[in-house]
Amino acid sequence: MKKNYLKPTVFLLLLWPIYVISYQIIFDELGPEPVDRIINHFGEWTLIFIILTLSISPLRKITNSTEWLKFRRMVGLFTFSYASIHMLSYVGLDYRFDIEPLINDVFKKKFVFVGFSAWLLLTVLALTSSDMMVRVLKSYWKKLHRLVYVIAIFGSLHFIWLSKTIFFKPLIYSIIILILLSFRIKLKKNA
Ligand code: HEM
Repeated sequence: MKKNYLKPTVFLLLLWPIYVISYQIIFDELGPEPVDRIINHFGEWTLIFIILTLSISPLRKITNSTEWLKFRRMVGLFTFSYASIHMLSYVGLDYRFDIEPLINDVFKKKFVFVGFSAWLLLTVLALTSSDMMVRVLKSYWKKLHRLVYVIAIFGSLHFIWLSKTIFFKPLIYSIIILILLSFRIKLKKNA
């Protein structure tokens, strides 16, 4: 594939969660609880995208190619967008944009508290993702963007705490995240 087609192609692929949910909305396949379906769809995809973001460094190392780094910002911004759609569908569809019950939930339910904290941290990373911010923050930029590991831990805790009965899926995601975190620690030790 010609190099100038690669980025737009990856961009279209990363829109996959939007295609799936649009199909389900159009063909009335959201099931008996459509609002929960939409919230959960984007929640799960946010976690998958966090995993994709964490996979870029190991992929670079394993394949010995820096090509992967070209997509890091795009994947990161998609992660932030899906987390924001997830949060906005909760606030908008569940609470009709009434902020008070959201604030109550943040302080009363620990799974909402960690989810919200993860979203706030993602916002900081999205706001500092531009080339200009890389130049302004210099060596602090790298340190700041290590917050993605904290976000990943908060994201898996969020999933574990909200799942009252089904633990299989949150467990699988948490194991994948732990493997990627240990890979990162190993890379640092060998550096
Ligand atoms: C990085 C940020 C976040 C990640 C990775 C994330 C991930 C998830 C995941 C994986 C699910 C479950 C999906 C499923 O059952 O298939 C979920 C559900 C949910 N999330 Fe999040 N989330 C995040 C942020 C937030 C925020 C900011 C809020 C609200 C302020 C929130 C509120 C909820 C709610 C209400 C549910 C549904 C719980 C239920 O089924 O009763 N999440 N999220």
